[in-house]
Amino acid sequence: MFPPRPTALVQRMLGEIIREGDLVIDATAGNGHDTLFLAVCVGASGRVLAFDVQDAAIVAAREKITAAGFAQRVEFFQKSHERMGEHAENDSAAVVMFNLGYLPGEDHELTTQTETTLSALEAAAMILKAGGVLSVVCYPGHPAGALEAEAVEAWMTARAGEGWRVARYGAIGTRRPAPYLLVAGR
Ligand SMILES: C[S@@+](CC[C@H](N)C(=O)[O-])C[C@H]1O[C@@H](n2cnc3c(N)ncnc32)[C@H](O)[C@@H]1O
Repeated sequence: MFPPRPTALVQRMLGEIIREGDLVIDATAGNGHDTLFLAVCVGASGRVLAFDVQDAAIVAAREKITAAGFAQRVEFFQKSHERMGEHAENDSAAVVMFNLGYLPGEDHELTTQTETTLSALEAAAMILKAGGVLSVVCYPGHPAGALEAEAVEAWMTARAGEGWRVARYGAIGTRRPAPYLLVAGR
């Protein structure tokens, strides 16, 4: 698909950064597509911590990881991503990945929320090591998603003011505001 969707683009970008043995975090495990991608990138000596609040997501993602033979390198936590700091030390992670919104096919009410997303971004910023990358795929196509995207973008812009390198990628000229990717390098 050209241009690549934000969810595909972010994997291409992060695939160039993550090294074998790294600790990385999937803040929104969902169906496990990103968790699986991260598990491949970190190799047998690396570690992926994957968070989701939904039972259905944890079950689906765990199944995908187990089927791929990567159960040893992934730890799942059924808890809100704001609490990632309980499981990773400061300055320890190479990448923290967020894909906002809801789980396709499941309850659309169980979506990420601006307030908890911002707290989770604060936690992620502490955990990221120097040279690490934080990524967020935002969905501004519906009103709550648009507000959340705006808040995340403002948070990212503040990081740019602190010396992080921040960028935004997304389609233009679409009927509804298209999903976009924000990345920040610490
Ligand atoms: C768009 S989906 C993620 C898709 C996933 N990255 C994949 O590759 O399949 C968003 C996920 O965020 C989860 N979520 C919502 N609020 C959350 C929170 N506070 N903490 C962690 N996960 C949350 C939802 O349950 C949903 O599964």
